[in-house]
Amino acid sequence: MSPTVKAFFDQPTWTLSYVVYDAETRDALVIDPVMNYEPASSKVSTHSLQQLIQFIDQNELQVHLVLETHAHADHMSGAQQLKEKYPSARIGVGKKITEVQKLFKHIFNLDQEFRTDGSQFDLLLDEKKEEQAGSLTVKTLFTPGHTPACATYVIGDAVFTGDALFMPDYGTGRCDFPAGSAEDLYFSLVDKIYTLPDHYRVFVGHDYLPGGRELSYESTIGLQKKNNRMLNQSTSRLSFIQMRSERDQALAPPRLLLPAVQVNINAGHLPEPEENGIAYLKLPIITEKRRFK
Ligand SMILES: [Fe+2]
Repeated sequence: MSPTVKAFFDQPTWTLSYVVYDAETRDALVIDPVMNYEPASSKVSTHSLQQLIQFIDQNELQVHLVLETHAHADHMSGAQQLKEKYPSARIGVGKKITEVQKLFKHIFNLDQEFRTDGSQFDLLLDEKKEEQAGSLTVKTLFTPGHTPACATYVIGDAVFTGDALFMPDYGTGRCDFPAGSAEDLYFSLVDKIYTLPDHYRVFVGHDYLPGGRELSYESTIGLQKKNNRMLNQSTSRLSFIQMRSERDQALAPPRLLLPAVQVNINAGHLPEPEENGIAYLKLPIITEKRRFK
């Protein structure tokens, strides 16, 4: 089974969202939708989502699932807005999201009522169980490293790696977020993603247009194993960990880290409005003595 894949690129956050569908049955699912957020004005908008919705409607697709590869730190999820438009769609994420919820509940000192059992999502995906989106079958691989709860979704011959793996000329996702691990990412790639058949198509979670090249988001397992500049078939575990750690030390935090994470661990729900009708996000103050981790 080879599903049709349509990619959408959100330029401000370099994010790829995908509509995956069976061209015969019109059954569809969406991976990693973006809700736009401008931090200076604290304004949300559905500019990116509108393009997806237009495509879905024009092609008369039936959206069964909205899947998150992980709790993103660089953009807010548009899952809830899609669910509003397609109420029968279920929002899914890897079941280890509960670990990330516990971690950030502590970091943000969230309300006691904030649930850390994943119940804000409709579906917690497990490696041991396949899910159906109409005629599409979704297999889940747990691929921790970028975050402890990252999942890769395999739908026919199409593999959605989220931030575990980027295009071969860029490398892999960073591993310096709370509970991230370069060693875990090494094993996620070598023992899981790279064991899939060489001809399977790989669709990545971001593309940063390295060197000013054109947007690129699709490769194959075979090409990644051969050419990925950070982790290919001749890279040792130790050299990957060392390279990844050095690179991560030089990276700035993502621009939307603090607003995005607190919305995304809540399945993309914005905070409830207060009595004046306005919703507020929470920001910790980071000092020299008290860091984010
Ligand atoms: Fe990410």
